[in-house]
Amino acid sequence: MDSPRRSNIVLIGFRGVGKSSVGRALAALLEWQCVDTDAEIEAAAGRTIRDIFATDGEAAFRQHEHDILSQVTANERQIISVGGGAVLRADNRALLHEAGLCVWLTAPVATLQARIEADPSSAATRPALSSAGVIQEVATVLAEREPLYAALADHVLDTSQHSIDDAAAQIAAYHASFRG
Ligand code: S3P
Repeated sequence: MDSPRRSNIVLIGFRGVGKSSVGRALAALLEWQCVDTDAEIEAAAGRTIRDIFATDGEAAFRQHEHDILSQVTANERQIISVGGGAVLRADNRALLHEAGLCVWLTAPVATLQARIEADPSSAATRPALSSAGVIQEVATVLAEREPLYAALADHVLDTSQHSIDDAAAQIAAYHASFRG
């Protein structure tokens, strides 16, 4: 039997889909708190994600990520933007499902590559997830993760078809209709 779900909106999806920017716009619209779990991890550890990956490895980063998700998902009335790999662990997926409505933001591979390349914070926050490199790996890593995003998603939105404000408005409308 499912646990009752809390009143949050969780934004899931690959790097570059716009989770952080859509999250900020949506939080402003609903007057909810905006929480970016990558930023929370960096603040708690006092180090960049890239540094945690480089020094301690991906498994250690995933544990930091799980610890932050456990804390954040206990609260309500938040837009929670999670890192693209937060769905990899089954215990994280359970936390996110219980936290509230999960919205999967998508975009075509070429759009994601262009956005990641154009994002000045990419080098500091986005370590490569494979030996292929941050840009080259998008299609393969995304294909591996798609079933996990799809299984968790209550709603899917292609951000390449909307401005940030429009995407936020679409999600707010979906959320209102879901609540009836
Ligand atoms: C990761 C995505 C990043 C960050 C870390 C790992 C991933 O977050 O959590 O670099 O595994 O896809 P964004 O999706 O916000 O870039």
